[in-house]
Amino acid sequence: MSGRDEGGARRERFASVAAVREQLHSVGYLADDGLSGVVYLADRLGKPVLVEGPAGTGKTELAKSVAAMTGARLIRLQCYEGLDESKALYEWNYKRQLLRIQVEQGAAWADIEEDIFTEEFLLTRPLLEAIRASEPVVLLIDEVDRVEIETEALLLEVLSDYQVSIPELGTVTATQIPLVFLTSNNTRELSEALKRRCLYLHLDYPSVEREREIVLVKVPGISEQLADQVARIVRSLRSLDLKKHPSISETLDWSRTLVLLGIESVDAETTRETLNLLLKYRSDIEAASKELGATAMTA
Ligand SMILES: Nc1ncnc2c1ncn2[C@@H]1O[C@H](COP(=O)(O)OP(=O)(O)O)[C@@H](O)[C@H]1O
Ligand SMILES: [Mg+2]
Repeated sequence: MSGRDEGGARRERFASVAAVREQLHSVGYLADDGLSGVVYLADRLGKPVLVEGPAGTGKTELAKSVAAMTGARLIRLQCYEGLDESKALYEWNYKRQLLRIQVEQGAAWADIEEDIFTEEFLLTRPLLEAIRASEPVVLLIDEVDRVEIETEALLLEVLSDYQVSIPELGTVTATQIPLVFLTSNNTRELSEALKRRCLYLHLDYPSVEREREIVLVKVPGISEQLADQVARIVRSLRSLDLKKHPSISETLDWSRTLVLLGIESVDAETTRETLNLLLKYRSDIEAASKELGATAMTA
């Protein structure tokens, strides 16, 4: 254990694994003990959680839910190709600095320099923002697999020491360790170093029972029977060989549509007519339609 685990900065957020599960439930996120256990440990160990899994399985929502249930501020760093230090950590406000230099024309450079590299000219980006926050924070580093592997080093530095060094200002150290979630859609392997730093959580498509529960919680006005049918049909679609399987997001979109259309029970025919809500590739829709024609998928 390193130094950051000592001292008074740590405050335990959760009483037990069961408490995590119940609190998540209270904000509409349904979790099993595996997931709740990882969140519990992340808090106790002061370690970030790396959440991997297919799109639409609740990775982003998990971080949002943890923020909501702990009353913490959610700070989100959305990753993309080309993300760099100036967008992740901080940058200097060059425009304002230039203006100041003009105003101070004639002054000694050393004095000007002392003036323009101050707080006033600093633009804080999500990582620095999270480190500096005095209130409780959940930091979400979303879709980290989109950044170049070199950029991971930058994140790693922050996540190892919970500090950021700004040459002109000094080192900023977190006064409290934020709960950190990194998500990945698995488009590439992350570095060993980053993985080693994190607790690992794999999210997959839920069981029929869990998905039925999620639908019941998230879709107002849906009947238990319809939620059950929806969960079963989606499950059977996921067993087909498709380019992109329907995710929980699509299950929810489909459910909401069925409710809007006043449909109380889905059969193969209704499913076929609304497949475009579940599947996003023409070839997938065709393959599924064929299958729906051949068998009753509600079985
Ligand atoms: N365990 C869960 N409980 C409740 N809702 C969930 C759960 N998992 C996923 N969802 C819902 O599924 C949708 C997609 O989740 P999201 O977090 O955006 O997926 P990801 O980030 O993995 O692509 C969200 O609308 C979320 O509400
Ligand atoms: Mg997401």
